[in-house]
Amino acid sequence: MSEPLVLGIESSCDETGVALVRGRELLADVTASSMDEHARFGGIVPEVASRAHLEAFVPTLDAALARAGVALADVDAVAVTAGPGLVGSLTVGAAAAKALALALGRPLYGVNHVIGHIAVDELVSGPFPERFIGLVVSGGHTSLLDVRDIATDVVELGQTLDDAAGEAFDKVGRLLGLPYPGGPHVDRLSQRGDRTAIRFPRGLSRGKDVARHPYDFSFSGLKTAVARYVEGIEDAGGEVPVADVAASFSEAVADVLVSKALAACQYAGCSTLVIGGGFSANSRLRELAAERGSRQGIQVRIPPIRYCTDNGAMIAALGSAMLRSGVAPSALGLATDSGMP
Ligand code: KG4
Ligand code: ZN
Repeated sequence: MSEPLVLGIESSCDETGVALVRGRELLADVTASSMDEHARFGGIVPEVASRAHLEAFVPTLDAALARAGVALADVDAVAVTAGPGLVGSLTVGAAAAKALALALGRPLYGVNHVIGHIAVDELVSGPFPERFIGLVVSGGHTSLLDVRDIATDVVELGQTLDDAAGEAFDKVGRLLGLPYPGGPHVDRLSQRGDRTAIRFPRGLSRGKDVARHPYDFSFSGLKTAVARYVEGIEDAGGEVPVADVAASFSEAVADVLVSKALAACQYAGCSTLVIGGGFSANSRLRELAAERGSRQGIQVRIPPIRYCTDNGAMIAALGSAMLRSGVAPSALGLATDSGMP
């Protein structure tokens, strides 16, 4: 008998994602984004995002079914992001998922978006090892996870105490006069700069800080250091070496992320690191993780970029893993939780 067909629905932020997964095989993954509508505001506008999900959901679902070559009636289970995310956005996806589960008479699984960013890697690189470390980096999250079972046993070792990595990039992008979201622009600029030009601080990486917060992150001090550096040059009437600033800043962020993730691998005694979330598109993070990982005998798994940004495949993948592990379905009264840990 073939494995169950899981429909995954993602709507926690600005992407409406619908995907179909059978076991660990991805059949279709369709995403609609409302980012263009937010860009002129310099940030996500929650009300705009909610309405965009409402408009995009049915066409996105239809496209995913067509691409997978299956009918709605073939779906065996419905998985949906239950949190964390924007309340209104989550509500639209959850309402759609409940309606489908009810109409089809199929079980509903409410899943954690952050864990989904790691779960999606199984669709790309195959089953996970017995224990591994997950690093989730995006515009909203920076978390280190100790994973023994992606469906039932995930412990958060640490997270950012202030800004997320992507958020810090977006703020530095604004500081350097780049368009929103600044992350990809800062990344591109950094590739022309000297990453050793300026020694920016590495948060929670020394002395008492690292003892107290071995797996936590902090990027607000770094962001302030970049702002002070830029202001200092501007006040003196000089020209800011933007590419060097971008490269040195990127180096500081990637250095801390990779150092702490590899330290966590050592702590857990495991030899696999899985990185996910929109920020894993960052070129220096990818490079440094691969370089230091191979030096320390750690296999680094990072899915292709289209599976790192928010999508339905990550939710379907986690729903599928929950089904495999025998996790009980959620009640149809499933509540969303915008602050889900
Ligand atoms: O996961 P994601 O698509 O959405 C959230 O859940 O936040 O992550 C988007 C974040 C944004 O902050 C964006 O600027 C950042 O990831 N980002 C990057 C790069 N690509 C996306 N930051 C640095 N370098 C990149 N190449
Ligand atoms: Zn995300």
